[in-house]
Amino acid sequence: MRIAHLGHVELRVPDLAASRAFFTETMGLFVSAEEDGRIHLRAWQDFDRHTLVLTQAGEAALGRIAWRVEAPEDLDRFAAHLARLGVDVEEVPAGSEPGQGRTLRFRSPEDHLLELFYEIERWKERDPALASDVLVHPQRFVGRGVAPRRIDHVTVLGRDVEALQRWLTEALGIRLNYFTEDEGGAMSAAWMSTNPLTHQIAIIRASEPGQTLHHLAYAVDSPDEVMRAARLLVDGGTPIEWGPGIHGTSGGMFLYFREPSGHRMEVWSGAMLLLAPDWEPRRWAPEPFRALGGNLFDAAPPAGFRSWT
Ligand SMILES: [Fe+2]
Repeated sequence: MRIAHLGHVELRVPDLAASRAFFTETMGLFVSAEEDGRIHLRAWQDFDRHTLVLTQAGEAALGRIAWRVEAPEDLDRFAAHLARLGVDVEEVPAGSEPGQGRTLRFRSPEDHLLELFYEIERWKERDPALASDVLVHPQRFVGRGVAPRRIDHVTVLGRDVEALQRWLTEALGIRLNYFTEDEGGAMSAAWMSTNPLTHQIAIIRASEPGQTLHHLAYAVDSPDEVMRAARLLVDGGTPIEWGPGIHGTSGGMFLYFREPSGHRMEVWSGAMLLLAPDWEPRRWAPEPFRALGGNLFDAAPPAGFRSWT
């Protein structure tokens, strides 16, 4: 039994109309379905019916993180495995979530709502203006807004990073690829995956109880597209929080900003792929991480930069 990939993430948003406008016009995602208080969206080459669900809510919060398992029978295997670990699993019948088959729903030790499913509607564009004859294009590429190709990863917050990492590995088989330690030697962040992506989920230590989401990332193809996204965002009135830069941990080029309801988003590109079956998790001690792990390039010019000699 194995998780194949991150399926979709639900964000609870206080300003659904503003978030809808941002995700469609600025980010360039596409609405696959819309009902009262809930919008399903996907990037142009996301093959699933949706990779992002926006739900109207009183305050910005992480909804659920849904994973697609490798085979239908994996759901029974995971259900038994999670029960053995004492995890309280809710069986959600097929069709309860639009386009989604039978689902297992449960919570992480730090209260993240998680789902496992196998069946999900494959997107096939019906709008003639967006339909494509290219067999691997669920819809036509039109380059609207940032225009990411696909969902990439979700980064959550947790009080005990190492305990949550161990639980994700034991309960869901998500392997640890690299991590940071604080001055006292405790794990302060962890990046994890079940496939060659450097991470499908990461954990960063929460500064206060109750924080559950750090950011959600969509992938573009090139550093050029990250730079283009930065220009689009700034010109559209969305400040850049950090970047563009290159994470030394993954080699990925990053750009962080906030969508209108307050959730931090990332556009990123070009991280390494981990194909080796014997990859050993890399440990980033505080000093190399400070100098190289967060960003290979310091944004501030070095002393003396403005002199010629
Ligand atoms: Fe990220």
